[in-house]
Amino acid sequence: MGFSDNIVDEIKSRCNIVDVIGRQVSLKKTGSNHKGLCPFHNEKTPSFVVSEDKQFFTCFGCGAKGDVIEFTQRYHSLDFQAAIEKLAEEHGIELKHSGFGAEGKKTQLYEINREAAAFFYRRFTKEQNTAIAYMSSRGLEPGVMRKFGIGYADGEWQSLYDFLKEKGYDDEVLISLGLVSRSNNRIYDKFRDRVIFPIINTRGKVIGFGGRAIGDGTPKYLNSPESPVFQKKNNLYGLNLTRQDINREDCAILVEGYMDVISLYQHGVRNVSASLGTALTENQAAMLKRYTDNVVLAYDADEAGQAAAMRGMDILYGAGCKVKVLHIPDGKDPDEFIGKNGKDAFLELVKLAPSFMDYKLRRLRERIDLKTTEGSLAFLKEAARIMRKLSPVEAETYIKKIAAETGISEGAFRLEVFGSGYRDAPAEAARPTREERRHKDGGGFGTMLERNLIRLMLFKSSYVPLIEPYKDSFETAACYRIYEIIRSLYRPDEEIDLQKLADSLDEEAGTILRHTMETIQFADRDDQVFAECITHIKTAVRIRREEELIKILSILDDEKDSGKILEMTKELMEIQKERYKGTHNEL
Ligand code: GTP
Ligand code: MN
Repeated sequence: MGFSDNIVDEIKSRCNIVDVIGRQVSLKKTGSNHKGLCPFHNEKTPSFVVSEDKQFFTCFGCGAKGDVIEFTQRYHSLDFQAAIEKLAEEHGIELKHSGFGAEGKKTQLYEINREAAAFFYRRFTKEQNTAIAYMSSRGLEPGVMRKFGIGYADGEWQSLYDFLKEKGYDDEVLISLGLVSRSNNRIYDKFRDRVIFPIINTRGKVIGFGGRAIGDGTPKYLNSPESPVFQKKNNLYGLNLTRQDINREDCAILVEGYMDVISLYQHGVRNVSASLGTALTENQAAMLKRYTDNVVLAYDADEAGQAAAMRGMDILYGAGCKVKVLHIPDGKDPDEFIGKNGKDAFLELVKLAPSFMDYKLRRLRERIDLKTTEGSLAFLKEAARIMRKLSPVEAETYIKKIAAETGISEGAFRLEVFGSGYRDAPAEAARPTREERRHKDGGGFGTMLERNLIRLMLFKSSYVPLIEPYKDSFETAACYRIYEIIRSLYRPDEEIDLQKLADSLDEEAGTILRHTMETIQFADRDDQVFAECITHIKTAVRIRREEELIKILSILDDEKDSGKILEMTKELMEIQKERYKGTHNEL
């Protein structure tokens, strides 16, 4: 990071949050706090609270919260560094002497990149060259090319190197920026015979370059390597020019390539940015989120592009964005599409873009054949897995919708998404499946059932083979590990060696074992405890089978599967009778 903790602390202590916010929002003192209308959402009664003691703001309406730096970032659409600079300047805080030596070094790297960009730019604009001819042939206008600072690297071996050497820069520094390379003790330019796209961050600094072959050369694109000033995962191409548009439109269109950004921009779709050919990162999602919550993924229509879109969606969704996925017909990319069909046609695609959820479900339906029972079950399971990520209210909307579309009953979806207890506890929406629980290391000491089973096996090893058929009852990962080790230590007619067991366990399982030994004693009731455990397990198995039957029955086709339906209904009735009997006995 560019700034030391010192300077961040100094900013926070010298910029009173009440003053800083008070300049933008009219605040009224109420008790120890200040209150006003939230600048981050529309409201008529104030729910925006600024605490002078805590130097923190919170909006109880929209959930926005943060310190003075975060307020400045969000209010003015600035990144972290720019917000610091703004606050420092307004409060007369000197930044120059506050950084580490690294800051000074970085300043030089930025300067070199700026010089290089200017060099390529002059070549591109001041003389005849193949790059400008190529870009013009692709329909780009001079004004837009200028705006993006497009440049030209000629085909010579040392043009840029000679230029920068003249300025007195050190070879090693130029190499670290990836502008030149050393081979057989000769230094030569990295970018040759290419169109140059300077990559500029939101503070206006040139951090790296992309170079496209002119025509069909390989590699098609050459990008600057990672350097102290260029981390791919922290930057988005074009955002320096487009973030205000993104903010104004309250929507970002995310594309894959340089050309897509520039082409959309030229056609008047300016709220655009590119993730630069890499998978979208969490940092990039967080950057976008500073300007908008709405992101439209407009990746290439090919398989690679669609796979990248799937991953990008999860990342954006995780960052709290509302994501839509735009589909470009005929395998084109956004640049080609807008070039052929124009702005309005492209905006129509944006309008038609399905939401994250719709898109995922659509892809699922393309893969799975809903005409077979197996297919329907698989679809139900997969769709539910996706829907578990949603809030219960959102999930409910989707359940209605896909139930209507697929003919699978809403009840079956609810059961799968929320689990069998959903009627009483809809908040349990995110309940993990059995397998997920098995793989997840939950805290705690496992279930009572698991501890009892473990204790029984350690009380008398003859319980080990008796419990084996029910080993699926160990649902907690650590308990299952304990079971597996007990099973491996088991020899008929020998008790389990407790020391050996303890030595083979990891810390979590060890804790569970100790807890179990300390808290469970059978006296001579072990037979009875064992019998109760088995009853418990059998009931659980019955309940699961019941759920499954209900699910399958709701999927089966009334006419085609009438035989199966009859059979399963009978089984279901048997199970429910059994359960009913159980409750009656208790009464
Ligand atoms: P055009 O073919 O000129 O229209 O470029 P494009 O922007 O459509 O690029 P494409 O869809 O082929 O690739 C998307 C992005 O992936 C590019 O903008 C580059 O950032 C990156 N990329 C593409 N090809 C290469 C390559 O050969 N090497 C590297 N490092 N990156 C590439
Ligand atoms: Mn393209």
